[in-house]
Parts: sequence; C-alpha cells; structure tokens
Amino acid sequence: MEVICSGLNVVDLLISTPDNVPYGQKTECEKIIVQGGAPAGNAASGLAALGHEVGFLGYIDNNTLSSIAVAELERHGVKPDLLIKKEGASPAIATVQIDKKGERTVLYSMNNYIPVNPDDVDETIFKNCKMLLVDGYDTVINTHLLKLAKKYNVPSVLDMEVADIDVMKEMVSLTTNAILPLEGAKKLCGKETIEECVQAIDSITDAQVVITDGANGSYTIYNGELVHVPAYMVKVVDTTGCGDAFHAAYASAYVQGYDIPACMNYGSFFAAQVAKEFGGRTKFPNREFMNKHFGVKKVA
Ligand SMILES: Nc1ncnc2c1ncn2[C@@H]1O[C@H](COP(=O)(O)OP(=O)(O)OP(=O)(O)O)[C@@H](O)[C@H]1O
Ligand SMILES: [Mg+2]
Repeated sequence: MEVICSGLNVVDLLISTPDNVPYGQKTECEKIIVQGGAPAGNAASGLAALGHEVGFLGYIDNNTLSSIAVAELERHGVKPDLLIKKEGASPAIATVQIDKKGERTVLYSMNNYIPVNPDDVDETIFKNCKMLLVDGYDTVINTHLLKLAKKYNVPSVLDMEVADIDVMKEMVSLTTNAILPLEGAKKLCGKETIEECVQAIDSITDAQVVITDGANGSYTIYNGELVHVPAYMVKVVDTTGCGDAFHAAYASAYVQGYDIPACMNYGSFFAAQVAKEFGGRTKFPNREFMNKHFGVKKVA
C-alpha cells in the first residue's frame, strides 16, 4: 500500500443550521448531508482523490454506520484492504451544525467505537509503503504505527489536534512531519503565539513541525528560518475538513518530492478548494487539477 491512513472513523451528519433555532421544536434546514468524517478518513479520501493508492486501517462490522463509512471511503477511491471485520465494531457518529457564519457546533457519540488493537496489524503492510498518515486520537494504535514506520524508514504525517500531553510529546517525537492546529500546539508547549509555538515544538523533535491557523495560513521552520505560507483567499462555504485536506495534500506533495514550503503551499491550495464546498469530503481536486492550477515546482 503506497499510503496507510489510521485514526478515528466517524460518520458525520452535516446540518446547515438556520439562525435562532427554537429549542424543542421542528425546524426545516436548507440541507442535511451524511458523510464520512474525521481527520484520517478525510485525509485518506483526499489522498486517493490525488491519485495515491491509499488504505484506511479500521474496524468495521455488518451495521449501517460501517456500511456508510466504507461507501464514503470507496467514493473517493480509498482501498478496502486495511479494513478489518470486528464483531460489534462501529464507526463513531457526529452531528455537525454549521451556522450562517460558518461556526461549527459538534455533538458526537463514541458508542461501539473500537480503536484498532496493535496485535491486529500485520507489519508487512509497511513494505512498499511511502507514507503513513495518522491522527492524534487513536493514540495506542497510532503510536504503534509511528514506531513501525520508523522501523521501516517510512515517512509519516501526524495530525495532532489534542491528546494527553505526554502522548502528544511521544507521537510528535516519533513522526517525521508533525502538523498541528494552533490550539493543539498551544496545549503541547504552553506558548501563546504561533511563532513561539513552532520554535518550542521544533526544539523537542527532529520532525518537521508545521502549525496551521485557519485563514492565517501555516508556519514552519525551514533551513533555520521561520516560514509563513498564507492561506488562499476563496469564497468560503464551510471550513469543515480544511485541516484534514491540508494534511492530505501535504503528504501527497511530500511523496511526490516537493520541498517542505511547497508541501505546505500544496496543502494550503488543496484545503482552500475544500473550503468552497459544504462538507469536508464532498469534492476534492484531483492530481490533474493540481498540476494545472498549482504552480510550485518540485525540487530537482
Ligand atoms: N477560511 C479558510 N480559507 C482558506 N484556507 C483555509 C481556511 N481555513 C483553513 N484553511 C487552510 O487549511 C489549513 C488548515 O486549517 P486549520 O488550521 O483550520 O486546521 P484544523 O483546525 O485542523 O481544521 P479541521 O477542523 O479541518 O481539522 C490552513 O493552514 C489553511 O491553509
Ligand atoms: Mg484538524
């Protein structure tokens, strides 16, 4: 498998929520859509849309949520090879209310969700693998996978939103590319500004540390210099999944051989296209679109 993705498996109900919804009453909304969600699943879908051979590691069983999650992964071309049948397992479920200002309110249930047990992973999946992408939620399995990636010399992208501090530190030190939203970065290092956060986290890991901050773009330290990659200004409909899309495209660009600032720029451009759609997995640009519209040259 060229790219292995692992992390929370979630089915989202995305609800375009009107203003001033009266509590305890029925209200019609413009749209409600059902979609696969969560960082690793969204990133797997984005990577598949970009033409990579991608597998998503997770448990499924014969139930409605598993059927939706599998169909949603297959919709963008994610291979089913790494899905494991496990009695009673189900994806988690979330309702995501998106109001007129684009503000998101999430309710979720982890009922019957079972993170993958490391004993169920056949490590030969890392042979011929070019990239591992994991989230910071299913921490036991994903820490195990980061160790295997290191053993097999496979580069990795870690999407570290929030977790226990010690676990965050361990995962950030195991990966080769730690990409954190600003909130996660602040929690990890206790600093306030994005510049301070990049510097502080960079000093505790050999990984390339990238911090994202929504429409303010992303930051890293490259060749000893602080680098800021701006977000692309687009007509934003819904920013759900922008972070996941950024990680997917960064990982794709890394596998394609772009240098780090170009990987961030590729991620930024791809994420901006996702912000134009309602839902984080509704529509992704493909490789052809990226080649046509994205002008950064690969390193020689
Ligand atoms: N409003 C926006 N317009 C254009 N690009 C955006 C916007 N919001 C986010 N992006 C792009 O996506 C990247 C990641 O966004 P962000 O920092 O919000 O991630 P996140 O908090 O992990 O999001 P998510 O909730 O999707 O996981 C940003 O660095 C930027 O390039
Ligand atoms: Mg995120």
